[in-house]
Amino acid sequence: MRIGLIGTGRIGTFHAEALSRHPVVDALLLADADPERAARTAVRTGASAVAVEDLFTGAGGARGLPDAVVICSATSAHAGLIARAARAGLPVFCEKPIALDLPGTLAALAEVEAAGSVLQLGFMRRFDAGYGEARAAVAEGRLGRLHTVRATTSDPAPPPAAYLPLSGGLYRDCLVHDFDILRWVTGREVGEVYATGSDAGPAMFRAAGDVDTAAVLLTLDDGTLATATATRCNGAGYDVRMELAGELDQLAVGLDDRTPLTSAEPDGPGAPAKPWPGFLERFAPAYEAELDAFLRVVRGELANPCDGREALHALRIAEACEISRRERRPVAMTEIPGG
Ligand SMILES: NC(=O)c1ccc[n+]([C@@H]2O[C@H](COP(=O)([O-])OP(=O)(O)OC[C@H]3O[C@@H](n4cnc5c(N)ncnc54)[C@H](O)[C@@H]3O)[C@@H](O)[C@H]2O)c1
Repeated sequence: MRIGLIGTGRIGTFHAEALSRHPVVDALLLADADPERAARTAVRTGASAVAVEDLFTGAGGARGLPDAVVICSATSAHAGLIARAARAGLPVFCEKPIALDLPGTLAALAEVEAAGSVLQLGFMRRFDAGYGEARAAVAEGRLGRLHTVRATTSDPAPPPAAYLPLSGGLYRDCLVHDFDILRWVTGREVGEVYATGSDAGPAMFRAAGDVDTAAVLLTLDDGTLATATATRCNGAGYDVRMELAGELDQLAVGLDDRTPLTSAEPDGPGAPAKPWPGFLERFAPAYEAELDAFLRVVRGELANPCDGREALHALRIAEACEISRRERRPVAMTEIPGG
């Protein structure tokens, strides 16, 4: 297969390396708004650097249209690139989110649906072994009636200040993963959210109108209560977990000898020797598996595991959280358009 990849930054370079190793990928074409970046990653991965435009027309260095494109550019460019790919009839894998707002998300989805093309979103937790086991445990009733879910995403250190105004804020940029995986693991929809956040940490969060730490209470449509918390300031390491509690049993995702958590008990586990440093290490197998799935979707071997409508639902929950935080009140999901 000939795969085009747009955006060779942090995640794009990681995906380019995985694609360059994949047995069904014969040719990898890399493009970036900064051509030098694309050229550098092309050298590292044995790919060809091309202009972004050429991936949609097949002209120039692309030497014909690719079989599919992988979009890893800055979020603000996602919706426009998805629309261009849809008009060119190209299947798309796109990093989350589709756009930072609902109108942009709905417009991109309309293009994809009008073209009848494939759009798979990069919610890689759906490919993580632990979350997969949790979903199976819930579906098989092994936990009994589920009553409580606790989801956590903690980054070890804040991103650069320049990233914040473009990120969409902690709910859309970070907690959106927890919202997606909560729906996927439980198989339920969120009915209502009540969100709050704190900007008591580094001043750049206040300057950007964002929060460095957030907590959300989510009520699912079967009455299950969930909490989702996130922070950009977890000095112990990268900590992504989910605890599920039911009438019969409890299960924890992300609890292993690299979890950056120390027991306060005299005989409990001490600090991990090698705590998870970041998302690329913690989710490396999941990132590879989601791209492998995409190549199978393009070849017609697999149903789309995370389409644009799924991503829309996660973004709608983040939108509800922003309203809840701003207006200091619970927000019903029926208030959010696009449902
Ligand atoms: N799924 C995940 O866990 C995960 C993790 C990190 C980032 N992401 C997402 O991936 C995307 C990229 O994040 P990153 O951390 O790699 O960012 P980055 O800033 O490291 O890289 C972005 C790249 O996109 C390029 N770019 C910007 N606009 C472009 C355009 N219009 N056309 C072509 N190239 C363009 C930039 O030059 C840069 O090289 C973001 O949307 C982010 O939300 C997802």
